[in-house]
Amino acid sequence: METDQPATAKEAAPRRITLLPGDGIGPEITDACRGLIAEVFPHWELIEAQIGWSQWCAHGNPIPQETWETLGRSDAALLAAITSKPAREAEKELAPHLRGTGLTYRSPILQLRQRLDLFANIRPVTLPGAAADFTIVRENTEGLYSHDYLLPPHDAPTDSPHHHLWAEVVEDSTVARAVDKRGDVAVSLRVTTSFAWHRLARQAAKLALARQAANPDSEATPTVTVADKPNILRDSARVIRGAVEQVAKEYPQVAFDFANADAVAMQLVTDPARFDVIIAENLIGDILSDIGAGLIGGLGLAASANVGDDFAVFEPVHGSAPDIAGRGVANPAAFLLSAAMCAEHLGAPASELAPAAKLRQAVYAATRTAPTLDLGGIATTSEFVAAVRAELGL
Ligand code: NAI
Ligand code: MG
Repeated sequence: METDQPATAKEAAPRRITLLPGDGIGPEITDACRGLIAEVFPHWELIEAQIGWSQWCAHGNPIPQETWETLGRSDAALLAAITSKPAREAEKELAPHLRGTGLTYRSPILQLRQRLDLFANIRPVTLPGAAADFTIVRENTEGLYSHDYLLPPHDAPTDSPHHHLWAEVVEDSTVARAVDKRGDVAVSLRVTTSFAWHRLARQAAKLALARQAANPDSEATPTVTVADKPNILRDSARVIRGAVEQVAKEYPQVAFDFANADAVAMQLVTDPARFDVIIAENLIGDILSDIGAGLIGGLGLAASANVGDDFAVFEPVHGSAPDIAGRGVANPAAFLLSAAMCAEHLGAPASELAPAAKLRQAVYAATRTAPTLDLGGIATTSEFVAAVRAELGL
């Protein structure tokens, strides 16, 4: 049966997944879900690695070198949650021997996105019975989050860091009135490149086609809506539009729409059914996707993927929820849905896709049969997972 071998080998191809429990509710969610994930995706090798605040406090880096090495040997990563705090608190909580050594805290999520070039943040907004069923693709590498500078005093030496930016803003009406111009003027730059928008628009077009393929009964044209501020941020918006229009020529089956982000924000609330795939720059995408999370019942249900050409990290949209950590009541749904996204992202083999779809349906069912506190119920994390197992017949 020589000829059957390649297909069989592909079906059974093991996948290495780095499991990153992180901080707060992250480890308790991971503990409750690890066994279930291993059973649903038996060809996954789950390799646990450290990340997060505890690593920063103990070692001065939220992502230790061993974790980078584990990631380097993996096909993808599944992250539960991390804590991030402002610079001053970060310094204060460092182990005593590391304080004052010049270490600076950098968010592990940002480190992962930048070092692994995870340029698209994909956030599906869907729930059976909810009016919303769309996906937001947020640009992850540039935009309004790329540069944010406190200007040096205006009378500081002109070769002080960022002093040259004064020339751009010094005659703006409010800046002229910022009397002493000492440490009270900051500037953010919206970096926008056609390079980033070509790859983002391609990713969005592929997603729109995949959504259509998964929904063969729908007659709607797959649509990518670009949510931006073209009338205000004119030049950068022109770069975005130019890049998206070029990509649109490669995907004649997909409709591309250009819309004002503020209007999109309102329509997400009043008429979410009109959207299919939405793309937006970093800040706008961040805000729109939290509106999306609100539409499907909150952060406990919102899953996401950070996708690059070579690697992807899957994570719930929520953080480490210190207010409920340690009580065993966190909703593990977003984590399980992130695992399902991971399987779909990795998996051409049907053997991987069917379990992902089943897991997703079982999670949705458990939100009704065993709702956690955030969903208005009383189920604990492990009771929710037990309900998912029951739905799956495990
Ligand atoms: P958060 O997402 O941790 O919590 C916001 C609210 O939602 C809290 O009331 C929390 O109890 C609730 N919540 C979140 N996830 C839940 C779940 N699975 N089940 C039930 N309730 C849930 O955001 P917050 O409080 O602003 O930040 C806490 C920490 O998390 C901070 O250190 C922040 O920097 C970090 N963070 C990390 C993110 C990530 O890992 N990507 C994203 C957002 C925040
Ligand atoms: Mg956010």
